[in-house]
Amino acid sequence: MFGPRLEGRNGVSLVPSTLEHFKLHGPWSMQPEVGRFWGPRFGEVTDDNAATRFKEFADSQTSVNWSIAYQDEPVGFTGIFGIDWVRRDGESGIFIGRHDLFGRGIASEAVRLRTDFAWRELRLHRVHNWIGLANRGSRRANEKSGYQQMGLYRKSWFRSGEWYDEWLGEAYPHTFPDQR
Ligand SMILES: CC(C)(COP(=O)(O)OP(=O)(O)OC[C@H]1O[C@@H](n2cnc3c(N)ncnc32)[C@H](O)[C@@H]1OP(=O)(O)O)[C@@H](O)C(=O)NCCC(=O)NCCS
Repeated sequence: MFGPRLEGRNGVSLVPSTLEHFKLHGPWSMQPEVGRFWGPRFGEVTDDNAATRFKEFADSQTSVNWSIAYQDEPVGFTGIFGIDWVRRDGESGIFIGRHDLFGRGIASEAVRLRTDFAWRELRLHRVHNWIGLANRGSRRANEKSGYQQMGLYRKSWFRSGEWYDEWLGEAYPHTFPDQR
């Protein structure tokens, strides 16, 4: 399912995705700046596949996904997926497809909105994630909303001739910074 519109700070909001947003996903994820620590580097990037993926995300009962909007333009995606409603645990992910906008605080605000929603609306017990250890921007954006290291998965994936370690993070309601 897609999550509701969540209004954030500094021009950042989370909005329910549209098919037009999904058509941006493939071209964005193929850019080397965006895929450096994440995602596929090849694949069938077609509008038909985007439509199939859009329907799967919309129909899913175990994920809540959003498009990230910055100044009302779509710039990326975030969500919580693989949710186990009994254990109340899910995995989170984020990507900003517009690399010309990296470093403006967009991911930090998107993670804050998503994490707040996980505790206050979904009533989850825990959210976990996997982040390339070298991906300092992503780790930092998540840490600011209360994610902490629970493990390190060494030599998790191979890219451009070298192995990369992955940082395993987890967040709980009690680790979320006080927003009052
Ligand atoms: C990683 C990513 C999510 C960060 O998004 P962003 O909007 O640029 O992040 P922010 O501007 O909110 O920055 C978050 C924090 O990390 C820091 N940071 C950002 N990029 C950084 C970098 N390349 N190196 C070191 N620190 C960095 C920022 O200074 C900020 O910390 P601060 O608030 O203490 O100053 C974004 O670059 C991205 O989507 N990359 C491609 C896909 C990807 O890697 N997704 C994550 C998969 S786990």
